Amino acid sequence: MDLCTCFRSFLATCLLLVSAFLTHAESIDFNRDVRPILSDRCFQCHGPDGGNRKAGLRLDTREGALKLTDSGLAAIAPEDPEQSEIIARISSDDADELMPPPESKISLPLLKKKLLRSGLKKVPLMTNTGHSVH
Ligand code: HEC
Repeated sequence: MDLCTCFRSFLATCLLLVSAFLTHAESIDFNRDVRPILSDRCFQCHGPDGGNRKAGLRLDTREGALKLTDSGLAAIAPEDPEQSEIIARISSDDADELMPPPESKISLPLLKKKLLRSGLKKVPLMTNTGHSVH
């Protein structure tokens, strides 16, 4: 194998890896990847338990997640997910704004934040499973 062929096969391998990565990034599934994070880290205060629900925000149903919150903000803005209040809250530097609230001791690691961010784009496809939390 001469140097040129060798380099070419190296390039081909790189391309393959990159496309495999991109395909994976594309295949984020709301119910499989995002919902468990919300369920784990958010439902305690924004879930099916009406008595403990904060800010009138319910993230366990499609309607709840897409309707405007008590303060008139879009928790999840399906047309423009980057504008979702959820994104602002999980990324905030302000302890009063940050979700989950620091005093709850519920953490949201960076990797999960990233997943949430990409996954919100899939919310219009979210299936409504009512009260079931899984
Ligand atoms: C321990 C309880 C608790 C947990 C857990 C929690 N929140 Fe909250 N959340 C609150 C409270 C209390 C408020 C209202 C006060 C405020 O706006 O900061 C709130 C407000 C919000 C708001 C703004 C609602 C509005 O009216 O504008 C969003 C969006 C939000 N939470 C998203 C989340 C997300 C996403 C998670 C999970 C990653 C989460 N919260 C986890 C207690 C919680």
